[in-house]
Parts: sequence; C-alpha cells; structure tokens
Amino acid sequence: MWNLHKVFEKNAIYLLVGSLVVVSIGGLVEIVPLFFVKSTIEKVDGMRPYSPLELAGRNIYIREGCYVCHSQMIRPFKDEVERYGHYSLAAESMYDHPFQWGSKRTGPDLARVGGRYSNEWHVEHLMNPRSVVPESVMPRYAFLQDNELKFDNAAEHLKTLRMVGVPYTDEQVEKAADDLKAQVNPDADSSELLRRYPKAVVGNFDGNPDKLTEMDALVAYLQMLGTLVDFSTYKPEAR
Ligand code: HEC
Repeated sequence: MWNLHKVFEKNAIYLLVGSLVVVSIGGLVEIVPLFFVKSTIEKVDGMRPYSPLELAGRNIYIREGCYVCHSQMIRPFKDEVERYGHYSLAAESMYDHPFQWGSKRTGPDLARVGGRYSNEWHVEHLMNPRSVVPESVMPRYAFLQDNELKFDNAAEHLKTLRMVGVPYTDEQVEKAADDLKAQVNPDADSSELLRRYPKAVVGNFDGNPDKLTEMDALVAYLQMLGTLVDFSTYKPEAR
C-alpha cells in the first residue's frame, strides 16, 4: 500500500491524474442527484410574479443600485431569523431575474421589509433618510418623487420575463397597463388587479394622486417584499 503511494509521490503526472479522479468522485456525488430531481425549489403557497407596478419599482431598485448596500436573503441563523423573520426560501426569488440575494449589508436585509413601515415612512425615508433615522448613511433619493414613471412598455417587460420562465398569462400581459394604473388608485375597483396579483398593495404611495412617479413604483415594490408566501401552510420538506 505505501509502496503504491510512492509511485504517486514520485511522478507528478500520476499525482495529478490521481487527484483529478478523487476530486471528480466528490463532484459526481454532489452533481448526479440533481439530474434526478425535477426541481430544487420547494413548492410554497402564495408566490406569484410581480405586478407591473412592483416590477417597475424593482427595475428602479436595480437601476439605483440599492443592492450595493442591501441584501434580500435572510439566512437560517437564529440572530437573522429573530431580526428579520422567517429565513428566505428559494421559491421567494424564483421569479427574480436577476435575483437580489447579495452579501453586502451596509443597510439591513430587505427581504421582508414589506408591511413593516407605512408608505409615508418609506417616502420620508427615501427623500431624506436622516429625517427618520438620524445616524443613517443611506443616500437621499428625493428625485424619485419628481421623476414621472415611464413604463409604457410594461407589457413588453412581462413578455420578456415570460421568455426566461416567469409564468405571466396572456391576460396579465394584455392588462399590464390597466393593472399598473389600478394599483396606484385606491378609489378605483381593484378586484381585477387582485385576482391577477393576489395581495398586491394598492395605494397612492407617494401622497400625490395627480402624478405617477418612480417613488410610487419603488414603494409599491418595497411594500410587497417578503409578504407573499403563506407561512401558516408552509412545512419544510424533509431531506
Ligand atoms: C450607501 C448604502 C445604501 C444605499 C445605496 C441604499 N441604502 Fe437603504 N439603508 C442603508 C442604511 C445604512 C440603512 C439603515 C439606516 C436607515 O434606516 O436609514 C438603510 C435602510 C433602508 C431601509 C429601512 C430598512 C429597515 O428594515 O429598517 C429601506 C427600506 C431602504 N434602506 C431602502 C433602500 C432603497 C430602496 C435603496 C435604493 C433606492 C437604498 N436603500 C439604498 C444604506 C443604503
């Protein structure tokens, strides 16, 4: 046995080939089982694709680089779960292209920030973070309140996401513009919107009903983060 090992120790090529064989066994043990499972994402109740307004907000979130300081992935550790709520599930980002997990947290994780603050708080905070959190180092995003939301091509966005596997229906694509408007108008009938996008938060987010702004979209997005999955029916799959 030891004599055999000497062969490897004395010949670099044998050692290299031997190491590759050993490493590939390890790799195969990890990779092969994945060919036999249909999906690595556990099924959960409540996940749905983003509504057009939330999607517009998400695009602004990415454009402004919010991910540079904020992650959206609560790890399954006691301190994180106590602070942010249930750890993130793979299903919660299955419609994200690209996902926003991140590993840099200058600010807190935002995976479950939805419903934690009022719309007014978010607007105030985005306009001037120091006005609500004096020690904050977050930049101001007050200009979002002045920028009109340009999302005439909402239907095209939905169609594009459909190409990469987000299950938007023909109806959702067709009604994209209507759904966008319905979500910022609390006085209108929102039953159709809520049928297509259950739990969508309807509101006049930025407090200015006359103008549809980027602030409206961003706050709508923040208010839905982490609110979709019904954790009363969720049971982790046994592994
Ligand atoms: C330079 C880093 C930085 C950037 C960029 C940044 N933030 Fe923050 N954010 C922070 C810090 C630090 C805090 C914690 C202090 C505070 O609440 O202001 C915070 C807090 C927050 C909170 C409150 C979270 C909570 O649970 O209390 C929200 C919501 C938020 N940020 C949203 C955003 C959005 C949306 C953007 C992009 C438009 C953004 N942030 C960009 C650093 C940043």
